[in-house]
This record gives sequence, structure tokens and C-alpha cells, in this order.
Amino acid sequence: MAAPLLELSNVSTHFHSPAGRVRAVDGVSFTLEAGQTLGLVGESGSGKSVLARTIMGLLPSYAEIPEGSAISFNGQNLLTLDRKERRAISGPGIGMIFQDPMTSLNPVMKIGQQVYEGMRHHFGTSRKEGRERAVELLTEVGIPQPDVRVDQYPHQLSGGMRQRVAIAIALACEPKLLIADEPTTALDVTVQAGILDLLQREQRDRGMTMILITHDLGVVAGRCDNVAVMYAGGIVETGTTRSLFARTRMRYTQALLDSIPRLDRPPHERLKSIGGRPPNLINPPAGCRFAPRCSHRLAQCDTDMPPITSDEQDASHRFACWHPRDPDAAMQETAGGDAA
Ligand SMILES: Nc1ncnc2c1ncn2[C@@H]1O[C@H](COP(=O)(O)OP(=O)(O)OP(=O)(O)O)[C@@H](O)[C@H]1O
Ligand SMILES: [Mg+2]
Repeated sequence: MAAPLLELSNVSTHFHSPAGRVRAVDGVSFTLEAGQTLGLVGESGSGKSVLARTIMGLLPSYAEIPEGSAISFNGQNLLTLDRKERRAISGPGIGMIFQDPMTSLNPVMKIGQQVYEGMRHHFGTSRKEGRERAVELLTEVGIPQPDVRVDQYPHQLSGGMRQRVAIAIALACEPKLLIADEPTTALDVTVQAGILDLLQREQRDRGMTMILITHDLGVVAGRCDNVAVMYAGGIVETGTTRSLFARTRMRYTQALLDSIPRLDRPPHERLKSIGGRPPNLINPPAGCRFAPRCSHRLAQCDTDMPPITSDEQDASHRFACWHPRDPDAAMQETAGGDAA
């Protein structure tokens, strides 16, 4: 088994606000082995992007990472590095594709230059060589007429093409780890699959390690080795993609699964969404954070935080619930119309 490339241990990220401390990420731990793809999934506001920005070292000054958090990348604790050392790691170490390509691209810089800027900074690549490399990369990510596009500006490209440029920028320095934060949410459904396939191909061809962030568990199926499900700043269920789909233990994960549009459902059927709202992250509930929205909650769920437990059949499949689903009885549950 390969050594972990990335290891998070008890990582928290808090924001100071006039109303109090926002616990956006709260005690996250996981390991990611080299060459693997992890799907990081959760509802809007669950802390996915803040966690990604924490790994990248891209937090605003009013953010605080409390003592006891550790992020080890390639054997180095990123949280002990200063800004300059951290910058040296981004690019060749960790690349990121942001949620909205329009805000991550520089509107007044030619796209070619944006692709090779990182190479110039990290490797001292010449302008001429950088431009040639940019054309190659634009070709690789499926941009037609790359020798023309290289001298254009972001507004001259469609949303899908801009996202391909953002991927080319992230790949330019050949990162060991690529974090793709909802790389397709801003795009048309027909364009989404193309971008996801491109990412998957690049990940395989380059043997890259990847974190694919999405709110859609459907995106994760067939694309990720492992999945970590986030709720209210914490990871509540994690395991291999296969086990997570076949033996879903958390009602929250089940509700995310139920909200995936499926071709075998009757047309125009309303999608099941999860009732209620995520908790306030300034004063989160004392017990399970999902309890107020859970159809199976017990008294204990409101008072005690459930510990992380392993699935009986697969120890790498872990979840935090006092009253988990019984995956073996799942067929009956589905037949009974169980909606969390
Ligand atoms: N810069 C910030 N300052 C204060 N609070 C923030 C900041 N960024 C995020 N938050 C809060 O942290 C929580 C997690 O936000 P985050 O953006 O990580 O969610 P997400 O899971 O990426 O959601 P989405 O699917 O909508 O992108 C939210 O409650 C959000 O309001
Ligand atoms: Mg986000």
C-alpha cells in the first residue's frame, strides 16, 4: 500500500465574526494515498471549500486554525510553514481548481500567460517556452484552436472553455495533488460530464492524487476511490465508494443519495431534498449535528456527540451515528419509503 501523500489530523478552521466564532471546519481527519481520488461531498455550507482553502493555505486573515490541527503533505506539516514556504508548495505540490472559473481567472491577462505564469514562478521557464507549453496544455484540455485562444482573454471564452483553462493552469506545474472544488457547478449539464471525464483522464494519466469536491454523490460514483461526507464542518461518514453506496449507514448520506436525479425514476417526480436547515456553526448543537433533521433520532442524539464507529463488515468504512441504518434491511426500508 502506498504511503499517504496527505494526512489531516483533527483540522479545524474557525472564523472570527461579530456574532462569535464560526466553526466552519471542526476536527477533520483523513488520509489520502498517492494516486487515489477522494470525493468530498456535502450540502451547501458543510465546509468543503473552507477545508480546501485550509489545505491550500488560502484563508483570510480573520481565520484561525486552532492548536492541535495538523496537515501533513509529503511528510511536511503545512501548518508550521511560513507564507513563502507555503507558496513554494502550491503549484508543483498542490494545485487547485476553484468553484467559479470566472472569479479565479484574471480578466485582464491573456489566458496563455495565466497558464505559464506558475511555471515561470516555480521553474524559471522562459516566456517563449512557457507559451509553447501553454498551447500544448490548452490542446490537452480540449480547447479548439489553442494557438489562437492562447492570446485571448477569459471573456472571449464560454464557461466550459474557461473551466478547461482553469484546469490547464492547475496542471501546468504538474501538481502531486489536485483539489477540484465543484469544478462543474457553474456549467451546463451537457458540459459537466466532459469536464469530469477530462479530470479523471488527467488524474489517471499523470498518476495524480485528487480531491474532488461536490454536493452531488452521483458525480462521485465511478470517479472516486473513497468518499468523505461532510456535515456542519465535520466528516460524518467515510469509506470506499463501493461500501459507502452499498452499505450507507448515515441517514444524512442516504438523503444525499436520494437527491441524485435518476433515470429509472418516473419523469417529473419531485426530487427528495433534505428537510430542515444545517445548524448554526457559531453555537452548534451539543449532540449529533444532524439530529434536529433526522427522522430516526433518539434522546441521546440531542445530548451526546456520536463517536466515529467502524462498519462491522468493513473497518475502513466509518460513520458517526447512534442509530445507524441497517444496510442489510435497506431493501425493506426503501420499500417503506424511508426518507430521512
Ligand atoms: N470567509 C468566510 N468568513 C466567514 N464565514 C465563512 C467564510 N467562508 C465560509 N464561511 C462559512 O463557513 C461555512 C462553510 O462554508 P463553505 O464555503 O466551506 O461551504 P461549502 O461546503 O463549500 O458549500 P457550497 O457547496 O455552497 O460551496 C459556511 O457556514 C460559510 O458561511
Ligand atoms: Mg464550496
